[in-house]
Amino acid sequence: MTGVRLGSRLWWGLVPLVVLLWGVGALASAALPGLSQSPLLTLLAVPAVVYARDVALAITVGALVIGRLGGSGQVRRWALGWVILALGLAMVSVLSLQADISAEQIALTSNDLLPILRDSTIGQAAVVQVSCIAMAAVLCAVSLLVSHRWVATAALVLVTIAIAAPPIAGHAGVTSQHVVAGVSAGLHAVAVSLWIGGLAVVGATCLVDPDRAVTVLPRFSVLALVCVLVAAETGLLTATLLVGALGDLLGSSYGSLVIAKAVLLAWLIRFGWLQRRRAIDHLPDRSALRTVASIASVELLIMATALAASVVLVRLGPPPIPSTEFAPLTLVTLGIAAPMLALVVKPSSWRVSDALPEAAMALFLLVVIEVGGVGLLRTALGPFGLVVETTILVFAGWCALSASRHSQVAIWLGIVGLPIALGINVLLDELLPWRMSLIAGVVGMGLLTAWWRRGRRSPAPATMAVSVA
Ligand code: HEM
Repeated sequence: MTGVRLGSRLWWGLVPLVVLLWGVGALASAALPGLSQSPLLTLLAVPAVVYARDVALAITVGALVIGRLGGSGQVRRWALGWVILALGLAMVSVLSLQADISAEQIALTSNDLLPILRDSTIGQAAVVQVSCIAMAAVLCAVSLLVSHRWVATAALVLVTIAIAAPPIAGHAGVTSQHVVAGVSAGLHAVAVSLWIGGLAVVGATCLVDPDRAVTVLPRFSVLALVCVLVAAETGLLTATLLVGALGDLLGSSYGSLVIAKAVLLAWLIRFGWLQRRRAIDHLPDRSALRTVASIASVELLIMATALAASVVLVRLGPPPIPSTEFAPLTLVTLGIAAPMLALVVKPSSWRVSDALPEAAMALFLLVVIEVGGVGLLRTALGPFGLVVETTILVFAGWCALSASRHSQVAIWLGIVGLPIALGINVLLDELLPWRMSLIAGVVGMGLLTAWWRRGRRSPAPATMAVSVA
């Protein structure tokens, strides 16, 4: 039964997936004149199947890697179960591909599918993916009978190719450096899949096979570090090649999702550090295994959110027109999520904002309106103005969060004021996407509430001495 419940937290990613798809307008059924529009079921099913396929492939590659790092025969059985699920989902995603391209209902048979699979890059990548998964499934079955390590290694290589194929054929093609972008996107997807799947399997191994877990954990911890470095490097490189200008990164929905993923990765690094300090360093003490499993359950939720954002990124595609705005999600990610992480890693505060927490929060809300709705500095100073506004946003967020930790009024001012500030921005700039503003508002309120609850549990931090004279 554990095999089925592996990484069960990852399925929570379907919630942000649907919410973000709605937010970026990818579920809108309004058709452009003369263009047929996909039915809602197709608009929902295609990304949901891709998400499920990515989860199944990640757990398969995770089980195969943990098997190589010293996992038991049980892990090989998990690999077989999940590779079969991945095969089924990859085949459904091929069928839904045709429905998506021709804006139709998903159908089991279609005359248009073959030309798509034969002539389009996306179609060819889908064929490569399904073939590799099918061959890996056979090898996973054989590896249960013949436990020769080369059989499992061959299966691992095939699943890795299956994971990399769609990203390589994805948006990389739209850049002048499509080979670099393609390889980078492929490596990126492999690194994150290894990390996600490995964590899900090692978390389960901690609960069902503690003896093996004590051996496998330190080895996986090293692999996870390598995956983080490769994922960050290739993610940033792919983003730079696909997005290019700072304005597009800060101002487009695509760019705001990339920034959100970067901040989610930073939070994951924080939890990875906690894993090391609170668990790995205490092995072989068995209580450390429970710590690994409990921290992993939070990490898997963050990874699920990053995975959902990635599937939406691929649906959305890089911004077609340049932008000089601040997307609503960017305001919340850079104004709240990023400073919050900085304060968790290094609790500190500024005497000036500490003395006036409500004023610090009010100032932050004014900065959200200035940067998100008015944009005086970027109008006056161009791209340099964008950098200045970004810095002010992050600093104002840091001041507001550090000061409001112990001021209920300040936090409630933020929780109530943030959606109002984002609403004012939509009124000030009709081009701003109201759906993403709503989502950003709810995310921001959630983060501020979590911050307030955390503040009530923890003592006051060291205050940074600033002479006000
Ligand atoms: C610094 C952090 C990160 C950056 C800058 C980043 C950026 C990107 C970019 C630009 C793409 C290509 C999207 C496209 O084809 O249009 C991508 C794909 C992807 N990212 Fe990330 N990413 C980051 C972190 C993560 C994390 C933490 C995860 C998961 C835990 C993740 C999972 C994925 C996946 C699965 C894809 C491939 C989607 C597909 O083509 O099916 N990324 N990422």
